[in-house]
Amino acid sequence: MEKKIAVLAGDGIGPEVIKQGKKALNAIASRFGHKFIYCHADVGAIAIDNTGDPLPEATLATCMEADAILFGAIGDPKYDNNPDAKVRPEQGLLRLRKSLGLFCNIRPVATHPNLLHLSPLKPKNIRGVDMVIYRELTSGIYFGEKYLSEDGMSAFDKCEYHVMEVERIAHLAFKAAMNRRKKVTLVDKANVLETSRLWRKTVRNIAKEYPEVKLDFMFVDNAAMQMIIAPKQFDVILTSNMFGDIISDESSVLTGSLGMLPSSSIGEKTSLFEPIHGSYPQAAGQDIANPIGTILSVALLLETFDMHKEARTVRNAVAYCLTKGIGTPDLHPDIKYTCSQMGDIIAAWIEDDRLNQAKISDSVSTII
Ligand code: IPM
Ligand code: MG
Repeated sequence: MEKKIAVLAGDGIGPEVIKQGKKALNAIASRFGHKFIYCHADVGAIAIDNTGDPLPEATLATCMEADAILFGAIGDPKYDNNPDAKVRPEQGLLRLRKSLGLFCNIRPVATHPNLLHLSPLKPKNIRGVDMVIYRELTSGIYFGEKYLSEDGMSAFDKCEYHVMEVERIAHLAFKAAMNRRKKVTLVDKANVLETSRLWRKTVRNIAKEYPEVKLDFMFVDNAAMQMIIAPKQFDVILTSNMFGDIISDESSVLTGSLGMLPSSSIGEKTSLFEPIHGSYPQAAGQDIANPIGTILSVALLLETFDMHKEARTVRNAVAYCLTKGIGTPDLHPDIKYTCSQMGDIIAAWIEDDRLNQAKISDSVSTII
C-alpha cells in the first residue's frame, strides 16, 4: 500500500520523538512492503518564527492532501510567560483541529506491569487499568466566543455545544465500548452546567441504540478523584473538550509517565495522530524524551489504514522494550536509553522480531 503522511514535528521535543516515529514507520514499510511518502510542514512556534503564523496555509494544504497526519508537539516558554502575546503556538493546533474537523480525540490509557512502580499510586489499584478517553475536540469552551474588556478588568470564554456535536462522538464512544467491556461513563458537570445537561440528555438517547452497553454518569470533580482511587472501574470515558484535556493528563499518572500516551483525532476526512504530551522545552535537543507516546500513535495511524497486523507489530516492539526494561530516563532513571536508541531498537525489532533479537541484545548490552 502507498500512503501519504503529513509530518508536523512542531516544537521542543517534537522533532526528536517524530524522528523515532518515522523510524518505526520505515521499518513497517520495509517489513510489510508498504510505501510511506512523508510531507513535512511547520506548525506552532517554529511556524511563527518562519512565517508569523502558527498554522501557515501551506501546512493546512499539506494536511488536507495527506492520508493521515503525524504530529509531534507545540509550545514555547516565550509565549507561555507572555499573557499579551497575540499569536500563540497553540492556536496552530486548535485551528488545525477545527479546519480538519477532528471532532473526536481518542486517548487510550493502559498500565504496564513493569512500570507500576513509577506511579505514585498503589500498584494494586493500577494493575490492569485499561480505559480509553473519548474527548470532544472541536467545540465547547475552547472554541466559543472570547472576550476581554477594554480596561482588562473582565473576560469570558463561552462554552456552547450542539446536539449534533454530542451525537457524533457519542456514537463512536458506544461503538468502541461494544468491542471492549461495554461500559461508557459520561463525565460532566450536569449539576451546574447547562451544556452538561444537554450532553446527558443526548447521550441517554444515543444509549438506547446500544442496549448492551452500560451507561453511567459522573461529575468531573468526582471523576478526577475516582481516576486516582479506583481507575479500574473505567472502560470508555466520554467527555467534553476541556474536561477531557484535564482528566487525560491526570490519567497519565497511572501509566507512570506522560511520555507513554498516544492519541488519535478522528475527523470526517482525515485523522491526526499525536502523543498527548507537550513540547517539554527543558528537554529539547538532549535526546532524552520518551518516544513511546509517538510510536504508539504510529500504531493507531496504521490502524486507520486497516494495517492491523502492522499496528500489532509496533505495539509488540514497544512491549518488548518495556518487558526488557529498555526505556528513556523517565522510565528508567538508572539504566538510561536515549530517545534515538529507543527508536533504533524498536525499528530493528519491527523489521525482524526474530532475527534482530540477537542484534538488539548486543546493542542493549553495549548501551548498559
Ligand atoms: C492537548 C493539549 C492542547 C489542548 C494544547 C496544547 C492546546 O493540552 O492536546 O491535550 O489543550 O488541547
Ligand atoms: Mg492537554
